[in-house]
Amino acid sequence: MSCLSCLCCGKWSDEKGTGKGRPGTWRVFSLKELHSATNNFNYDNKLGEGGFGSVYWGQLWDGSQIAVKRLKVWSNKAEMEFAVEVEILGRVRHKNLLSLRGYCAEGQERLIVYDYMPNLSLLSHLHGQHSAECLLDWGRRMSIAIGSAEGIAYLHHHAMPHIIHRDIKASNVLLDSDFQVRVADFGFAKLIPDGATHVTTRVKGTLGYLAPEYAMFGKASESCDVYSFGILLLELASGRKPIEKLSPTLKRSITDWALPLVRQRRFRELADPKLNGDFVEAELKKMALVALVCTQGAPEKRPIMLEVVEFLKGEANEKLANLENDDMFRPDKPVADGSSDCISEEKNPKP
Ligand SMILES: Nc1ncnc2c1ncn2[C@@H]1O[C@H](COP(=O)(O)OP(=O)(O)OP(=O)(O)O)[C@@H](O)[C@H]1O
Ligand SMILES: [Mg+2]
Repeated sequence: MSCLSCLCCGKWSDEKGTGKGRPGTWRVFSLKELHSATNNFNYDNKLGEGGFGSVYWGQLWDGSQIAVKRLKVWSNKAEMEFAVEVEILGRVRHKNLLSLRGYCAEGQERLIVYDYMPNLSLLSHLHGQHSAECLLDWGRRMSIAIGSAEGIAYLHHHAMPHIIHRDIKASNVLLDSDFQVRVADFGFAKLIPDGATHVTTRVKGTLGYLAPEYAMFGKASESCDVYSFGILLLELASGRKPIEKLSPTLKRSITDWALPLVRQRRFRELADPKLNGDFVEAELKKMALVALVCTQGAPEKRPIMLEVVEFLKGEANEKLANLENDDMFRPDKPVADGSSDCISEEKNPKP
């Protein structure tokens, strides 16, 4: 019996073989079933493409909607690791994490199946197909901030084994029909065999979210996720992209834009203009302060995700007030104090 079929008979699988798993269960899908659910991976079903492959919308015979990620890189050697890792990730359950519904491993094909999230990603609301509709009022933004922080804190501090996300960004923050957050693609980098090119691609593709020590030395840790989460918070509050193009050769990071405004206590100017001034200023201020302490260059100065949750939920207001008095927020601190003020094209990694 192969390792894959062992797992298929495990306690997370569809034990009765009905093809319809219990809610919250995990099972192995056949390639035939996924072909039929996605109309043979039809282009019209494609939700998008990331560093690891394409994602397709599909519908199972019981009417439930799924998203199927079809991995583009694979090697036979890694079959065992794939099954084990998927099984570990499939066990992770939290209200703010997009759990795996199952996987398919037949021949050269490796596919991962998730629940479909009807409100797509935070990226689509901030900068993509839903951005004109302005569906993210301030209340929803606060709940997205808290929910995604809780999901990541669960990965870091409660999941067994602990999981580092490695790719926190707006396209991996998905929204269900009630705009509840589901953080996607946690631990995903581990599913890809060594030697595949995705790591390089991903480092280039999401440069704006990468902690400096990860970008330079490729060393992933919980505090790298904290950094990326800080960038995500600034993006959520301001509606700006992590890196803004000032001219064809000059770029500015969102932190280099936000930090001087925070030092001068000009918090209102940080708010997304799409909010039309309709936001809670104290909460916006909290989001900005937390975001900037998360994106400090020195990893040991960043808070852990459990503290971030406390800050955002207003459970550590005294600590937050102390943070506001931190040296990094001194109003008289010069703007260019060693942080990268602007990024010139030449300094970026070559594609
Ligand atoms: N379960 C889902 N429901 C709805 N949309 C989804 C789902 N999973 C992924 N998507 C969307 O499909 C697109 C492709 O996702 P994918 O994860 O492959 O790429 P990405 O998130 O842009 O980058 P990365 O590969 O680094 O995760 C993204 O826009 C993503 O938000
Ligand atoms: Mg993704």
